[in-house]
Amino acid sequence: MELIDGNLIAATIIAELKAEVAALPGRKPCIALVRIGDDPASLSYVKKKEKTAAEIGLTSRIILPPVTISQTDLFALLDQLNADPTVDGILVQSPLPKHLSEVAVFRRVSALKDVDGFNTLNLGKVAQEDETGFVACTPAGIMELLARSGVDLKGRHVVVLGRSLIVGKPVALLALQKKAGANATVTVCHSGTTNLPALTRQADVLIAAIGRAEFVTADMVKPGAVIIDVGINRVPDPTKKTGYRLTGDVHFPSVSPLASKITPVPGGVGPMTVALLMKNTLKAYRLQTAS
Ligand code: GUN
Repeated sequence: MELIDGNLIAATIIAELKAEVAALPGRKPCIALVRIGDDPASLSYVKKKEKTAAEIGLTSRIILPPVTISQTDLFALLDQLNADPTVDGILVQSPLPKHLSEVAVFRRVSALKDVDGFNTLNLGKVAQEDETGFVACTPAGIMELLARSGVDLKGRHVVVLGRSLIVGKPVALLALQKKAGANATVTVCHSGTTNLPALTRQADVLIAAIGRAEFVTADMVKPGAVIIDVGINRVPDPTKKTGYRLTGDVHFPSVSPLASKITPVPGGVGPMTVALLMKNTLKAYRLQTAS
């Protein structure tokens, strides 16, 4: 079993980006990070994005609207950011409070500043294999992680667990693309799937993105499979100072001995999401400034 070190691969990408940013003349790329409410996981993700941006030499603008903000007011805020020539990328941290429509909010972000890749146009470009758009950061990070770990998906059976807009659907489309590194046969499983273990056992590459702690167990995995664990779940643990431990959607102790390669949680997919967000921000800057 080989551990796929997401921290190491993300650090390589971050170093590449830092060199690119250092070479830019004038204004540095700027990302606006909008966080609504005080979901503890969102708080830590946005902090991490802010810290990584600073490390690369990007500017970030943190915007914290009140948790009660109406959809109309949030739209007005996004319109302002869309029109602001000093803002290149805009990210609205998910999940949003229940009274806001996530899809409507994602659609309101200008397609040219949509570094999260959740806008309708950018999702459509993934389906059309048009590389001028933005690919959602976690799916793009997974593809990069596979490529940089020497995993070619061509002709392999990729089974995706989960059909979210943020991970499952876009990663299935990316694995399906007719291009180098992709070209996989793809199955997407979800809560309505019958006989799930029979399908996951067929996976050469299993991508788990359902948000259920340690859901994937040894009996669901084919020996020699590559396992990509996208889950970041907080499980109560009184022995920890924080009162919880982080675990993935995969039961690591029983699955890892079977896998040819596997990502840990934390330190697998998570750091890649942040690295790809920074890459998208640089792409947005180049679109805005035509440089
Ligand atoms: N919540 C979980 N993952 C993501 C992400 O990639 N982007 C945003 N905006 N919210 C998230």
